Amino acid sequence: MSDDVNPYQQAHAREKAARLKAELLLEDKSRKLYIQKQKLEESYVKLRQQESAMLQNEKLATLGTLSAGVAHEINNPLAFVLSNMESLNNYALSFQKLLLLNQNLLQTDLVSAEARSSLTTLIDEEDLTFVNEDMSELLKDTGDGLCRVRDIVNNLRSFSRTQNTDQVETDLLEGLKGTLKLLDSELKGNVNLQLSLQELPKTICNPNEINQVLLNLIINAKQATEHAKEATLKISSRCKNDIIRIRIQDNGCGMSDEVKKQIFVPFFTTKPVGQGTGMGMAVAYGIIADHQGKIVVQSKEGIGTVFEVQLPVVAKTLT
Ligand SMILES: Nc1ncnc2c1ncn2[C@@H]1O[C@H](COP(=O)(O)OP(=O)(O)OP(=O)(O)O)[C@@H](O)[C@H]1O
Ligand SMILES: [Mg+2]
Repeated sequence: MSDDVNPYQQAHAREKAARLKAELLLEDKSRKLYIQKQKLEESYVKLRQQESAMLQNEKLATLGTLSAGVAHEINNPLAFVLSNMESLNNYALSFQKLLLLNQNLLQTDLVSAEARSSLTTLIDEEDLTFVNEDMSELLKDTGDGLCRVRDIVNNLRSFSRTQNTDQVETDLLEGLKGTLKLLDSELKGNVNLQLSLQELPKTICNPNEINQVLLNLIINAKQATEHAKEATLKISSRCKNDIIRIRIQDNGCGMSDEVKKQIFVPFFTTKPVGQGTGMGMAVAYGIIADHQGKIVVQSKEGIGTVFEVQLPVVAKTLT
């Protein structure tokens, strides 16, 4: 029977089978190669992201060291300037009393003509009535300015994490609710607040610092929605896999990639001069890093922003 088979046909069939097998093999190899190429590309993107995150962390750590130095240098002279200002305020009050007494006496007959003349000349020549008014204003403005410097120095210290932190067992949901209560008048009537709050396990942290972070984030979110049509703030809390997540989402102005890259840099602000110090996010970064947590940001210009604070649940005091 096999004699009937044409040897050419046989050879052709063999060759066809071999070709098919080779094609299948090639296809298989190409697919594997393609998958490997895709994996390689994904790894490359991940590596680039990790590299830029590492660079960013390094930059912020360097800035932290620098800020700590600057804050420390400014803090000492600031302390005595503030204390001197307090004494000056008290001295000024004494002189103002003296001037008032003088002016009252000049209205009476108790002063001799000679004394009256020299006192009136002195008051006129030195413009003491104006000095008296201006002195109070100058002292007040100087005091206000010094308080602003003190706040900036404190912010720099929080960013550089040189302060001792008091770690206690905390219910962060209570902290979040307290912070919202504090901001009640600021938010009421201005934004539509949507809360989706889940119970959180207690964790050891510095509650004042974490509340400060939440406050900074919520204020930023509210400020971002100032020109939004229906300003909405969505705030949620949950805990999964021993990570506490507090999310603050706004439908405000959003951020460009350029802005997003710089938000944690001290003094970076897009707000007009005098309206923002640019320290809010830098402080938040320092505090959350100190708690071994993360702040994850997603933002789209014109659409809005989501900030998520992620904190590990800590059962024992951090060392
Ligand atoms: N929710 C947000 N939506 C849009 N942009 C934001 C948001 N949060 C932060 N930003 C951007 O990040 C910048 C830095 O924020 P940060 O809180 O550090 O400083 P600030 O708000 O400008 O000033 P300060 O907090 O001292 O009042 C802001 O100026 C803004 O451009
Ligand atoms: Mg801010």
